[in-house]
Amino acid sequence: MTDHVLVTGGAGYIGSHACKALKAAGYVPVTFDNLSTGWREAVKFGPFEEGCLTDRARLDEVFARWKPVAVMHFAALSLVGESMKDPGKYWRGNVLASLNLIEAACAAGCLDFIFSSTCATYGDQDGVILDETTRQAPINAYGASKRAIEDMLADFAGSHGLRHVIFRYFNVAGADPEAEVGEFHQPETHLIPLMLDAIDGKRPALTIFGTDYPTPDGTCIRDYVHVCDLADAHVLGLEWLRAGKGSSVFCLGSGKGFSVREVIDQSAAVTNRAVPITEGARRPGDAAVLVSGSTRAERDLGWRPKRSDLRTMIADAWRWHQAGGYGR
Ligand code: UFG
Repeated sequence: MTDHVLVTGGAGYIGSHACKALKAAGYVPVTFDNLSTGWREAVKFGPFEEGCLTDRARLDEVFARWKPVAVMHFAALSLVGESMKDPGKYWRGNVLASLNLIEAACAAGCLDFIFSSTCATYGDQDGVILDETTRQAPINAYGASKRAIEDMLADFAGSHGLRHVIFRYFNVAGADPEAEVGEFHQPETHLIPLMLDAIDGKRPALTIFGTDYPTPDGTCIRDYVHVCDLADAHVLGLEWLRAGKGSSVFCLGSGKGFSVREVIDQSAAVTNRAVPITEGARRPGDAAVLVSGSTRAERDLGWRPKRSDLRTMIADAWRWHQAGGYGR
């Protein structure tokens, strides 16, 4: 019988790409999603179960129905700016919801668990290159909520034998090169899709949040990683757990940092169009520099990013953008 994997947030940006990768690897991804930010049209690679992580009875029903061999937990609130304005939403929506899921997984005996964490758990470390051993010191409620879930997993590993892989993502970008799924948020807050909207005339301009950071051109530096490379890492993480190799944490980034201005320049080159910009104030909660220096995923999982150069990521995002997104 084909193995099922429960994918929370499978209707979202990263989760939908993971479902495609899981299907390609021979698994059946079962999406569990409340469609609060995800899209029904993004569920293309396996069955769909609509539900909220806060509904324990519904979770128990889904575990009993599909008997998944593992959980991939993508469902989350993930906007740094919003988390600064409404931290309670993040502690409830991320931490409480994850507690419910972890308890349901343990009760069902589904003990291989993959969790989407973030480099936002590190906070602002003065440009230090980040890896799994770097001290975590979040500066926004989003990062704090994700760190709390990491701690929760460690506790349940001790008490219930939960085996977990934690992936700390850097800035996820790009889209499925076949444009079956892609990035589409409403409202959109992320740099690359906003920039493509501005290029396309769907927005008047892209606002650069802060030009006075202590970086060479004054704008924030981020490490962008392709969503398909990230999805591949999840399949490798699943195989790692199923081979009994034990709990671990992996940073997933390209190891290269690009400033907001460099991303703008590359987008102009890829699309062969001008990017209308305005310069604005810093966005609260933003670190100046977030770049991964980790090679652990390459070493332990055999992860080889294939599409995480900036040009390919923007080209794939542009192709998806031109395909039109969901619900429009
Ligand atoms: N930015 C702008 N203008 C915009 C939007 C973004 O200048 O209109 C800048 C931001 O200030 C930041 C960079 O572009 O420096 C990237 O911003 P995004 O909003 O695209 O991404 P974030 O870095 O805020 O957040 C993303 C994910 C988080 C994750 C984080 C790790 O949404 O889940 O990357 O850096 F934690």
